[in-house]
Amino acid sequence: MVELTLPRDSKVKAGKRYKAAKKTKTTRTYKIYRFDPDSGENPRWDTYEVDSADHGPMLLDSLIHIKNNVDSTLAFRRSCREGICGSCAMNIGGRNTLACTKGHDEFKGDITIAPLPHMPVVKDLIPDLSGFYNQYASIEPWLESKTPDPEQERLQTPANRDKLDGLYECILCACCSTSCPSYWWNQDKYLGPAALLQAYRWLADSRDENTTARLEALEDPFKLYRCHTIMNCAQVCPKGLNPAKAIAEIKKMMPAKG
Ligand code: SF4
Ligand code: F3S
Ligand code: FES
Repeated sequence: MVELTLPRDSKVKAGKRYKAAKKTKTTRTYKIYRFDPDSGENPRWDTYEVDSADHGPMLLDSLIHIKNNVDSTLAFRRSCREGICGSCAMNIGGRNTLACTKGHDEFKGDITIAPLPHMPVVKDLIPDLSGFYNQYASIEPWLESKTPDPEQERLQTPANRDKLDGLYECILCACCSTSCPSYWWNQDKYLGPAALLQAYRWLADSRDENTTARLEALEDPFKLYRCHTIMNCAQVCPKGLNPAKAIAEIKKMMPAKG
């Protein structure tokens, strides 16, 4: 077996870099929302002081470090650590975002971390997204076609495929819906920007043949028309999407639905 070794010089340089990083220790203060609805106690803010040199560069690394080394009772969700699954969405420094794609050095001073706003809390940083997922299910997020299944795939022209760009990338993190004041006050009736962007994703799909029924299901004073173009949704989307534009496109389709 051939042993892969670094040249001696590289080892020395790597060692120096490690020591230099250790010397520049910086302590960061995290103020984290804590709440256990089963405990009967009120929510509180806990403060943790953590040295950034002891963990990786992202906010999620800070939280994992706190949970593993300081307070194992802290609850939060995460899975992919790559900005793909949407499970680590939370409110960091007053803004909804993904903890795994935000570096802690992007924040100055103390860092405040809370769950996504205006949602029931399961525990600490974990929001209850059952209503959000039910709304997503209500827009029937699948292809509906009366044309018999082709022998191979359903084809699209490149131009029609391009219409799905800016829509299919949504990871359902809920950062947009939970930053929308209309959604805060009417989330039992207003579908919110995430579900509406997904609704438009199927309306814009040239292979879907259920456009009229989809539009009829959305034509309601609350489900669609509670969007008042506040634009918080587009400001916070960690994937750079624009749910406000998708909602405007649905509104434009309404008179044409026949
Ligand atoms: Fe998250 Fe953006 Fe999708 Fe909203 S549109 S759920 S912010 S990825
Ligand atoms: Fe809300 Fe975005 Fe409309 S923030 S009001 S969904 S433009
Ligand atoms: Fe998956 Fe952050 S852990 S998006």
